[in-house]
Amino acid sequence: MHPAYALSDVSDVFSPVLVVYPELVRRNVARVVELAGGPGRLRPHAKTHKTREIARLLLDAGVTKHKCATIAEAELLASAGAPDVLIAYPVVGPNRGRVVELVRRFPGTRFSVLIDHPTATKALSETAAAAGAEVGVVLDLDVGQHRTGIAVGPAAAELYALAAKLPGLRPEGFQVYDGHNHQADRADREAGVRAFLAPVLALRREVEARGLPVPRLVCGGTPSFPVFAGLDVEGVECSPGTFVLHDAGYGGKFADLAGFTPAAVLVTRVVSRPTADRVTLDLGTKAVASDPPLERRVKLLDFPEHEPVGHNEEHYIVRTAEAGRFTPGDVVYALPGHVCPTVALHKEVLVAEGGRVVGRWAVAARDRMLTV
Ligand SMILES: Cc1ncc(COP(=O)(O)O)c(C=O)c1O
Repeated sequence: MHPAYALSDVSDVFSPVLVVYPELVRRNVARVVELAGGPGRLRPHAKTHKTREIARLLLDAGVTKHKCATIAEAELLASAGAPDVLIAYPVVGPNRGRVVELVRRFPGTRFSVLIDHPTATKALSETAAAAGAEVGVVLDLDVGQHRTGIAVGPAAAELYALAAKLPGLRPEGFQVYDGHNHQADRADREAGVRAFLAPVLALRREVEARGLPVPRLVCGGTPSFPVFAGLDVEGVECSPGTFVLHDAGYGGKFADLAGFTPAAVLVTRVVSRPTADRVTLDLGTKAVASDPPLERRVKLLDFPEHEPVGHNEEHYIVRTAEAGRFTPGDVVYALPGHVCPTVALHKEVLVAEGGRVVGRWAVAARDRMLTV
């Protein structure tokens, strides 16, 4: 357990609660800036923290370009003063009007969104042009995850050219997000990146030869960040998100991310010891994200050897030969396996410095809508 996590007085700390340590967040930010070679090569993803305070920590570190997935996160970033916000999501339906409203409401921020289909691109152009607004568009290239995006090839070049001639749109480059590139070994992740990079760069050259600038390549998340950070390619912007709070999932899998420290810890309590070999904690699926498999969902810190055996809405049940050491009310510190959806389960987080709780931060963009 990291020495910074322990709180000297937990008598008033209700549980379950997520505690964030700004000193460790600042350290993770400093590390990412150092590895990237400066804040200008970063476009961190706000979906991990969803808080104004961490957005401001990043801005204070000189990070001007930001990424997010939702319109609420985009509004949070813009209202915190971010000058450049990419909504890294395809925008459809009434959300088109909301993006245009963001452009109108926050003139100090340049907004862009992803495109990967001609129909949605034309619809976005119509909405923007009708409002007399301009929205940046980033072509989402599918480099292997097959979640969103368009395959690297002629249709991708055509879509970029279409966006360049439609009113209300401003082509701003490509997104190259490799969420499938999760090999434990750094060399394997690097090989994964190298495999799709050459065709992406060829597409960029082809498009630029047609007179269409591709000023930026928005690349990757946390696992492939060390690879993209080391590339000598014009316009690369690295877009990790998880690093800022980090978690047991990435920490346990990727040895080359050792420079990042989990900065969000769950404080939980033993609520029952129902059998001689079981301990039940108040850490249900409404307090810690349940998307990793049960055995990787939670990392209990300073806890004897155990096996997770059940997880309900408000209960986390483990089997341990040392259950007898625990009494209801005992505090246990835990790391989430996946911090981003865990943060989104909490309306606010406690903030701890020097072993004491010093405040609370609202997880403001946990809401789907702020004002726009
Ligand atoms: C498009 C996009 N970019 C960047 C990220 C950040 O990735 P990570 O959570 O690995 O830092 C994500 C994560 O979901 C994403 O979907």
